[in-house]
Amino acid sequence: MSISVIILAAGQGTRMKSDTPKVLHKISGKEMLFHAIDAGEAISDDITVILYHQAKKVKKAIESEYSGIKFHIQDVENFAGTGGALRGVEPKYSRTLILNGDMPLVTEESLTALTKEGSDINMSVIRLENPTGYGRVVIEDGAVKEIVEEKDCSLEQKEIKSVNAGVYCVKSELLNRYIPKIDNNNAQKEYYLTDIIKMAVDEEKVVNPVFVKEEEFKGVNSKLDLALAEEIMQRRIKEDLMRAGVIMRLPDTIFIDCKAKFEGEVILENGVTILGESVIKSSNIKSNSVVEESIIENSSIGPMGRVRPLSYIKDTHIGNFVEVKKSTLNGVKAGHLSYIGDASIEEGSNIGAGVITCNYDGKAKYKTTIGKNVFVGSDCQLVAPVKVEDDVIIGAGTTLTKDVKRGSLAISRTPLKTIANYFYKFFGDK
Ligand code: UD1
Ligand code: MG
Repeated sequence: MSISVIILAAGQGTRMKSDTPKVLHKISGKEMLFHAIDAGEAISDDITVILYHQAKKVKKAIESEYSGIKFHIQDVENFAGTGGALRGVEPKYSRTLILNGDMPLVTEESLTALTKEGSDINMSVIRLENPTGYGRVVIEDGAVKEIVEEKDCSLEQKEIKSVNAGVYCVKSELLNRYIPKIDNNNAQKEYYLTDIIKMAVDEEKVVNPVFVKEEEFKGVNSKLDLALAEEIMQRRIKEDLMRAGVIMRLPDTIFIDCKAKFEGEVILENGVTILGESVIKSSNIKSNSVVEESIIENSSIGPMGRVRPLSYIKDTHIGNFVEVKKSTLNGVKAGHLSYIGDASIEEGSNIGAGVITCNYDGKAKYKTTIGKNVFVGSDCQLVAPVKVEDDVIIGAGTTLTKDVKRGSLAISRTPLKTIANYFYKFFGDK
């Protein structure tokens, strides 16, 4: 579609009470502003983000994820307000969609409705029982006549329940003409973008109200809003996944990052957390396990298992209280209480309870390599860097500090001593 997108993100976000720029707070693992950019990218290849407060930080964050986004730094000192934000912006296409950076829940479906052709301006309207704080939309005979900001409303206008949701699709030619004409003669002494509606009406342009869902267009302004938006986003993500074939036990207790992908039949039990760009294929993630930025294939994890970033786990069983980090496990059993970090372990190998890879010497991280069919007894420490070839047995309690050749037994143990009747000598006869 030949449409330009402008995303307003210059505001300070005072109500968020945070040092992090408001639009960089995350919903389901993705920055709010990035949700808006993604929605924009679904319909446009000409996206401009308006910045001012913490502009450098926000720009840097955007540039680390996206290319081809244009930036415009608002002259807030001289032209504060949503109308000031658009001064000097030149849309490439004949129509422009104006979005807000703090509306992460807007769907492509609603944007499609807002970009419908046939009028000069389409503007988003929500009907609210309590319209406090929003600009009121005066609608006559199905057409918008005016938007009046809360602080400029008469008592009568305050009763209007149709409010401006703040997203508009405008003919670019109108924007180019109207934006420089906006003044700041209002209660807030700000340049109101909403004034373009009146200018359009004065020129007998068609301003079409598009009624949208409050759930999608309610801006996120506080940490309470953030939590409420998260709930909505999580519900959407999980409903889509369940429709696509993922089984979830007590879905309300599960958290899934918007970037996670699922294939085949996956079972997620209660309390599971899936973070980052994880891929889960035909696996069972049991209760209260956490998987972060990893690939899990044909495996079972947990209950209470933890898979940290950059792990690749295939045909493997990981049991309770096993932590895996940046490791490749292929056809492995690690049933209980282990730390497996910076390791690669091949098929048929068994990791006993309490096995630890000592991957860090206080300065650097080292690798542990374990071949096929290796039996690592309980409570072993594998001091990396260390390599264990195929078909090896490592006796329980061994501290392994050297590589082990194929077919060997490795065992380090203090000889066991028993002293008869020592108990009675020590505590006396009872
Ligand atoms: C604006 C609308 C109001 C509408 C409401 C919906 C105007 C004058 N009023 O209110 O009718 O009901 O949105 O949420 O437009 N921003 C900038 N530069 C600025 C000021 C704001 O980029 O100088 C950005 C903010 O970062 C935010 C968006 O514009 O993403 C909306 O700003 P906000 O202050 O929340 O909106 P209001 O002025 O309260
Ligand atoms: Mg404001």
